[in-house]
Amino acid sequence: MTTTTKQATSPAVGKSGFTLPLLYRLFFLLIEPLATLVGAYFALFDQETYLNLSHGSSAPTTIPLGTSIVMSQLGNMYFALALSEALVLRSTSDLRVWKAVIISLLVADVGHLYTVRVLGPQIFWSVSEWNAIDWGNIGYYLTALTMPYPEQFTGFQVNGPDTWLEFHKNEFQPKPFGDYDVDIKIECCGVCGSDVHTLNGGWGEQKYPLAVGHEIVGTAIRVGPKVTLIKEGQRVGVGAQSYSCLDCRQCKNDNETYCRKQLDTYGAVWPDTGIVSQGGYSSHVRTHEHWVFPIPDGLPSTIAAPMLCAGLTAYSPLARNGCGPGKKVGIVGLGGIGHMGLLFAKALGAEVWVISRSHAKEADARAMGADGFLATSDKGWNEPHVMTFDLIVNTANSFDGFDLDAYLSLLDVHAKWVSVGLPEDDGIKIRNQTFLSNGCFFGSSHLGSRRETLDMLQLAADKGIKTWVEEVPISEKNLADALTRLHKNDIKYRFCLTNYPEQFGA
Ligand SMILES: *[C@@H]1O[C@H](CO)[C@@H](O)[C@H](O)[C@H]1NC(C)=O
Ligand SMILES: *[C@@H]1O[C@H](CO)[C@@H](O)[C@H](O)[C@H]1NC(C)=O
Ligand SMILES: *[C@@H]1O[C@H](CO)[C@@H](O)[C@H](O)[C@H]1NC(C)=O
Repeated sequence: MTTTTKQATSPAVGKSGFTLPLLYRLFFLLIEPLATLVGAYFALFDQETYLNLSHGSSAPTTIPLGTSIVMSQLGNMYFALALSEALVLRSTSDLRVWKAVIISLLVADVGHLYTVRVLGPQIFWSVSEWNAIDWGNIGYYLTALTMPYPEQFTGFQVNGPDTWLEFHKNEFQPKPFGDYDVDIKIECCGVCGSDVHTLNGGWGEQKYPLAVGHEIVGTAIRVGPKVTLIKEGQRVGVGAQSYSCLDCRQCKNDNETYCRKQLDTYGAVWPDTGIVSQGGYSSHVRTHEHWVFPIPDGLPSTIAAPMLCAGLTAYSPLARNGCGPGKKVGIVGLGGIGHMGLLFAKALGAEVWVISRSHAKEADARAMGADGFLATSDKGWNEPHVMTFDLIVNTANSFDGFDLDAYLSLLDVHAKWVSVGLPEDDGIKIRNQTFLSNGCFFGSSHLGSRRETLDMLQLAADKGIKTWVEEVPISEKNLADALTRLHKNDIKYRFCLTNYPEQFGA
């Protein structure tokens, strides 16, 4: 299998090669087709021996012409069987094709065994009298019995933006299992604003049917032969990114979240296969080990899950821009991402102020530990704080009525404004003069690196960070309700889908 060797020489991921155990490859690509070819040889060219081996005492000394013709046809059938087995299985790494071929051989084999019953039942257990053909049968049964691994995953998918709240429980095909892949049986999954923007078409065209969800926690149930970062049985998480080249300047510098080849956990088309990645509203997810994160003990799964997108989105710009003791940090917007920004900025030791449109969320912000709260509806709200902030992370999801100049006036000289919200509308207009008064920097931030994810989870475990999470048992109806509420911002402050075993089996 050429794809396997290609993968062996490169750290790149997502290639379609998967490796079946050597025993299977030896047996079905080599031993079994050769044994069948031997059968074809005798049926075609040494018919007397063939009949002798089948039932010596009834074998004729001269073979009647009709019998000879039928045996030649049998030989041709063996030949076709050997070719289809060896060539079809060699041409694909799709486990479903392997299973289909092997099961059809199994059916043929049961028929084969049935025909020899007339020779007496002892033929089945007199192992010492078995010939090569009999031994070959064993392989079919062994393989059929030892390949029950699920290759189809199940998920709640949506068929299009017009019916974005109608979830259908479907089976789907994951990408082929790669050497570096980890299969995860999902335990819970956060509901992210991205799920809404994606499903309802707000972020443009998507590939349907689609199961979203990229704040996943579950158990690693199978790891590829080259996986070193994850162990089978470990509790692990997957966030919003599932692929990058791991080879470019950015990837080698803990900036893989900015790799030009980065792919999302759901809705992305996998290189080589055309398969559209499916998210965590599903039974399982298959992910390269680089994007699978061990969850520290002591961090509950439903708390950890929403950190894997919302948490990281807030944590990365804080960590990269010096959030820590002695710094005054602003968090604009107290939603899913904003409340995690507040909790992480506090955990990193900064003085943290929440900036919101009204005072409606002030009590919540203070309960989460905010040192101060600014409501932009108050007249002159920014004046007492002009040029005092070291960093502002903007998590707002709409720029409606946004007076950017007033916000930026809060920043100290050369301090930074980092936007992480991705509104569906066109955004804000920026004038050249906007940055003049304090020489501030205006930028954005995408997710974060593997290293930052691990640091964030450890920080959360060490400091006992408790994000505000409402648990929702996953089902068609509950998904529609939760996404409707999220669309209306009616959530404090994150949903996490639970009860996976009830929907997908234990
Ligand atoms: C078939 O078996 C008989 C008895 O064992 C033997 O005499 C004969 O030579 C065999 N014929 C062939 C073609 O193997
Ligand atoms: C990301 O890239 C920038 C620019 O090359 C570099 O300064 C930084 O160290 C890289 N890694 C991280 C984690 O920021
Ligand atoms: C901003 O600066 C650029 C480059 O100097 C200039 O082309 C553009 O006209 C300026 N825009 C405004 C609104 O002043």
